[in-house]
Amino acid sequence: MRQPLIAGNWKMNGTRSSAEALIKGVLEGAEKLGKAEIAICPPFPFLEAGERLVANSSVRLGGQNVCTEASGAYTGEVSAAMLAEFGCSYVICGHSERREYYGETDAIVAKKLAIVVENGMKPILCVGETLDQREQGKTQEVIAQQIDAVIAQNGIASFAELEIAYEPIWAIGTGKTATPEQAQEVHDFIRQRIAGQDQAIGAKVRILYGGSMKPGNASDLLSQPDIDGGLIGGAALAAEDFLAICRAGE
Ligand code: G3H
Repeated sequence: MRQPLIAGNWKMNGTRSSAEALIKGVLEGAEKLGKAEIAICPPFPFLEAGERLVANSSVRLGGQNVCTEASGAYTGEVSAAMLAEFGCSYVICGHSERREYYGETDAIVAKKLAIVVENGMKPILCVGETLDQREQGKTQEVIAQQIDAVIAQNGIASFAELEIAYEPIWAIGTGKTATPEQAQEVHDFIRQRIAGQDQAIGAKVRILYGGSMKPGNASDLLSQPDIDGGLIGGAALAAEDFLAICRAGE
C-alpha cells in the first residue's frame, strides 16, 4: 500500500557533463519501471539540467539541503522557493553529514521541514545513530529524540507530509550495511513511535533505508515490511547500479 521510493543522493559529486549523462542514463532505464517512484538529488548547480531533462518523465527531482529562511541576506544559502522553481519535488533535510559537519540541530532540521512543505515540496527527514551510540545500546533513544523533536516543533500532522530516511551513520559510505533485520527493527520502531501519536499517519509514512545500499543487498532490505524504499549515496552515481536498486524495489 506504500509505493516504494528510491531516491539518489549524489552528494557533492559530478561535473556538468557527468551529471547530464547520469540523468539521461537514469531516464532511459526508468521508463521500463512501473511500481517504484524514482527521485534524483543532484548538487544545486545541476538542478537546472535536471529540471530540463526529467520534464515529461516520471522521475522526480530533489534538493540535498535548504535554508531555514525564506529569502534575504543569507550568503551561500538556497531557499525552498528556489528549489520549487527549479522543479524539485523533494528536499533532503537533516542528513547526518549536515548534522555532523554543519552543526544542524533538531531545531534547525524542523524549521527546514516546515519551509519545504510551505513551498509545496516533500522533505526527506534523515535520522540515524552513530556506531558508538549503537554499541552503547542507545539506538532507539537517539532515533526517538530525533523524531520527537520534530513532533514537538512541527506537530504529529507534519509526518503526513514527509518521508523519513533511516540512515545508520556507521553504514554510510562504509560498505557496512545494516542487516535487513537490524534495519527492519529500527524502521518498525520509528513507525510505532509515530503511530503512537497518530495511527493513520504511522501506517502511511514512508520510511526509506540509507547506508551502503547496493544492487546486491537491495532486495533483502526492500523486502522488509517497514522498509519503503532507499536513499542511495554511492550507488546512485552509476545509472546501472541505481536502476538495479530501483528494480529491486519493484
Ligand atoms: O544519503 C545517502 C546516504 O548517506 C547513503 O550513502 O549509499 O553512499 O552509503 P551511501
